[in-house]
Amino acid sequence: MSTDPNSQSTILVSGAGGYIGSVLTRELLAAGHRVVAFDRFFFGRETLDGADPGGKLSIVQKDIRDVEPADLQGVDIVCDLAALSNDPSGEIDPGLTHAINHAGRQRLSAAAKRAGVRRYILSSSCSVYGAGETLDLSEDAPTAPLTAYAESSLRAEHDAMALADAGFSPTVLRNATVFGVSPRMRFDLVINLMTLHAVERGHITVMGGGRQWRPLVHVRDVARAFRAVIDAPAERVSGQVFNVGLCNMQIRSLAFIVRETLPIPVTVAIAPDDADRRNYSISFAKARARLGFVATTGIEDGVREIYDALKYGRVESGPKTVTVGWYRSILDAKRLISAVELNGRVL
Ligand SMILES: NC(=O)c1ccc[n+]([C@@H]2O[C@H](COP(=O)([O-])OP(=O)(O)OC[C@H]3O[C@@H](n4cnc5c(N)ncnc54)[C@H](O)[C@@H]3O)[C@@H](O)[C@H]2O)c1
Repeated sequence: MSTDPNSQSTILVSGAGGYIGSVLTRELLAAGHRVVAFDRFFFGRETLDGADPGGKLSIVQKDIRDVEPADLQGVDIVCDLAALSNDPSGEIDPGLTHAINHAGRQRLSAAAKRAGVRRYILSSSCSVYGAGETLDLSEDAPTAPLTAYAESSLRAEHDAMALADAGFSPTVLRNATVFGVSPRMRFDLVINLMTLHAVERGHITVMGGGRQWRPLVHVRDVARAFRAVIDAPAERVSGQVFNVGLCNMQIRSLAFIVRETLPIPVTVAIAPDDADRRNYSISFAKARARLGFVATTGIEDGVREIYDALKYGRVESGPKTVTVGWYRSILDAKRLISAVELNGRVL
């Protein structure tokens, strides 16, 4: 594989049908790469509809817990995004979360190395920092995962890093909380949800007091961060962890930004109860210094984009947009109708 940004690689994207994956897949195809979309497609295949005018996309509907080196033949780079993708989904069944988010990713990174893949990029999360006491946490700050989701991400990071050698370059992206429109829309992410409530109810309730800090980043900037790693020389990214984000905000400030950005009347209430223990503010200096990566899409841009997409019917707030609810309904279906099994597993 060349590090020439203009060269074309074959890139396997696990979780390609997801919120970030369906945007990243389009971004990689637009850059001229071939993409193997590897996903169970829990949210449907239609999130990739129209993504491939050039015929460079192939789809593999398979579970990362079953991935084999044969699935990775001819692949140059893996972007690993398949996971139960937030804290509440991770708490439904912590054993399942471990099996997918830790052991499944471990299996994928190990299979990639065995198959001769040269780069592996893990989509991890700033939630590995937990209730950070200090501001502007850098990548070497202590981690303190508070949930099964965060713990599994951290373990997957360690396993991937242990595989680094001259022929295999693992890189970890610790993404901030993402916002913005995607073909697999998520209305369980804070800015997206606040914008939805503002549009549907004319009202935003901020839970947990709203003083907790949260790092944020637009979904297209996450895709750009993956590309920045892909385009960088291997020696600059191998074995490296990068925080990926735009800025840090207190949750209550976000509510007021959403209110001020929208062209409709919106009221904001701060609920003092339900203290949210996740509280961290992150430094994004390393990605800027080492990769030249700077997130460029602002919160107001994201809010306007979601507002327009709702207004013109480009996104809907259906059940699939709430990740934990959707996974619960799949598990309920499993209990009710054992016949809907896929590869011996429902979830
Ligand atoms: N969205 C965020 O705010 C955010 C922030 C930080 C980190 N991340 C991480 O980025 C990654 C992608 O997040 P997202 O928001 O796109 O989530 P998502 O839920 O929209 O997408 C995850 C995709 O993985 C697939 N998947 C789940 N389990 C699988 C399995 N066992 N085998 C194969 N495919 C499976 C799902 O079908 C889905 O298409 C996740 O690892 C998540 O933890 C997301």
